[in-house]
Amino acid sequence: MILVAGGTGRLGTVVVRRLVDRGLAVRVMTRDPARAAHPAADQVQLVTGDVRDRESLVRATAGVDIVVSAVHGFVGPRGISPATVDRDGNANLVDAARAAGADFVLMSTVGASSDSPIELFRMKHAAEHYAAASGVSTTVVRATAFLELWIELLEQTATRSGRPLVFGRGENAINFVSVVDVAALVERVVTAPMTRGEILEIGGPDDLTFNELARAVQAAAGRTSPPRHVAPATLRLMAATIGRMKPDLGRQARAALVMDHLDLTFDATPIHDIYQDLPFTSLADLLDQSRV
Ligand SMILES: NC(=O)c1ccc[n+]([C@@H]2O[C@H](COP(=O)([O-])OP(=O)(O)OC[C@H]3O[C@@H](n4cnc5c(N)ncnc54)[C@H](OP(=O)(O)O)[C@@H]3O)[C@@H](O)[C@H]2O)c1
Repeated sequence: MILVAGGTGRLGTVVVRRLVDRGLAVRVMTRDPARAAHPAADQVQLVTGDVRDRESLVRATAGVDIVVSAVHGFVGPRGISPATVDRDGNANLVDAARAAGADFVLMSTVGASSDSPIELFRMKHAAEHYAAASGVSTTVVRATAFLELWIELLEQTATRSGRPLVFGRGENAINFVSVVDVAALVERVVTAPMTRGEILEIGGPDDLTFNELARAVQAAAGRTSPPRHVAPATLRLMAATIGRMKPDLGRQARAALVMDHLDLTFDATPIHDIYQDLPFTSLADLLDQSRV
């Protein structure tokens, strides 16, 4: 039995689909099964659990061979944060996996490190470290930014004005990867015990600025107007004002500032040299598919 924590999310849903299609037994953990209108709902077990609640994890991991963590607490709200979910929640999951005698597959981020300027990346690093020290057989999959998430955000913010919203100058190159590619690697790793002890990094073929991504989204929608921008000075003000009362908004403003200048490019060829049949989905592929 494979437990997928975060199996209701953007990546987790695709991972669950792939595992179910292989005929594997899957249990999906969610904080609210009523919210989990899962595409594979009739083919999986649903279990209620919260990574912050250790008791719930004992129930969720009963009889499980592999625990996959595809959770994150980046967008809050209050009480849900990278510290409570990505660091402490993942530590709880590792402990539960150890008690159940299960292996662990951790979703992390390319750039995870103890001194990253992005809080989420520091908390992912702490989770990687905890898992490595726990003795639980663990594989870490680090991914770059999810293309589908950012396309969706640009489309959502374009709906009223016809002009998508870019946070910052939008001139910094960032590697984007499709969840389709990441899910294919996670499926591979789940079913490959020989990857335990490894950290695998995956990205996509495209290093793009947000302005380039916004232009491509506009073109695919048949729009020509340029994106709007939230200036870096406004992001700094947001972080220092609203961000004090609403930590999730402060976190997002600070992350946007970092994403506006940190080197977030990535060479994705090494993972594709190892796993040559992994999909390598480009922005153009995704936008073409959405037109079909
Ligand atoms: N998005 C990116 O650009 C990106 C890049 C690199 C790595 N990743 C990593 O990839 C994984 C999947 O990301 P995603 O963007 O697909 O996520 P998502 O769509 O935002 O979904 C988040 C998932 O986390 C679960 N979750 C949140 N708080 C939880 C808690 N306290 N207890 C249990 N479950 C909780 C949610 O489950 P319920 O709401 O059903 O409880 C949901 O399934 C995450 O580990 C993320 O850090 C993401």
